[in-house]
Amino acid sequence: MSDLLSFRGVESGYGEARVLHGIDLSIGANERVAILGRNGVGKTTIVNTFHGVARLRGGEIAFNGRPARTLRHFTAAREGVSVALQGRRIIANLTVRENLLLGAAVRRPGPWNLDQVFALFPILRERAETPGIALSGGQQQMLSIGRALMANPALLVLDEPSEGLAPVIVDELAAVLLRLAANGTGLLLIEQNFSLVRRVAECYYVLSKGQIVDQGALAELSMENLKKHVAV
Ligand SMILES: Nc1ncnc2c1ncn2[C@@H]1O[C@H](COP(=O)(O)OP(=O)(O)OP(=O)(O)O)[C@@H](O)[C@H]1O
Ligand SMILES: [Mg+2]
Repeated sequence: MSDLLSFRGVESGYGEARVLHGIDLSIGANERVAILGRNGVGKTTIVNTFHGVARLRGGEIAFNGRPARTLRHFTAAREGVSVALQGRRIIANLTVRENLLLGAAVRRPGPWNLDQVFALFPILRERAETPGIALSGGQQQMLSIGRALMANPALLVLDEPSEGLAPVIVDELAAVLLRLAANGTGLLLIEQNFSLVRRVAECYYVLSKGQIVDQGALAELSMENLKKHVAV
């Protein structure tokens, strides 16, 4: 089966500045993959590159085995790749329900709809008519994930979902992500914090200064390497 998303020798950056150097990575159907790295190493630029926000200067990107230089947010969603962006990007003045409906602007056939998202995150049903700005950080993260699910992704990309969340909420998030994976959703988890990755991912890439410096099965990631590249 084709990879849901793959990068081959990707070079990209902003204006003249190069950020990513020769990135190779691939995520197959139903895989749970992590990209780990410290602040500013280029993690979000991976998302920005396939969304066409950073400029692709070399190499190839493919969605479902089909080369596509870059795809904007909604077009990527149509190809089955939905992103919960870093910082959650909840629309402050829209209600929880309205924020979720935005995620359905482009949707593929599949099981996710408002009812299913509310079943996954019951707190969002309780707060359905509340403006996004009134939610706690954890609730906003659930809303961001729920909104991405409304498109029925084959691959859900999460950019630093655990940022700013209390450990107990990170535990809840891990359980939800494992449930999604068990139902066939591929996960690409971008993190600088290992606690969520440890519970959810099966393989990893480590990014440093825009290059992949290590990769493999999560069970084989050495503590020494980990301490060098992420917060443990
Ligand atoms: N829109 C942009 N325009 C110009 N430079 C940018 C832009 N976004 C990021 N950069 C630069 O690209 C480099 C990588 O940034 P990126 O946001 O990809 O890092 P990151 O690993 O996601 O960091 P963090 O953990 O803080 O989210 C940084 O030097 C950053 O200043
Ligand atoms: Mg980032």
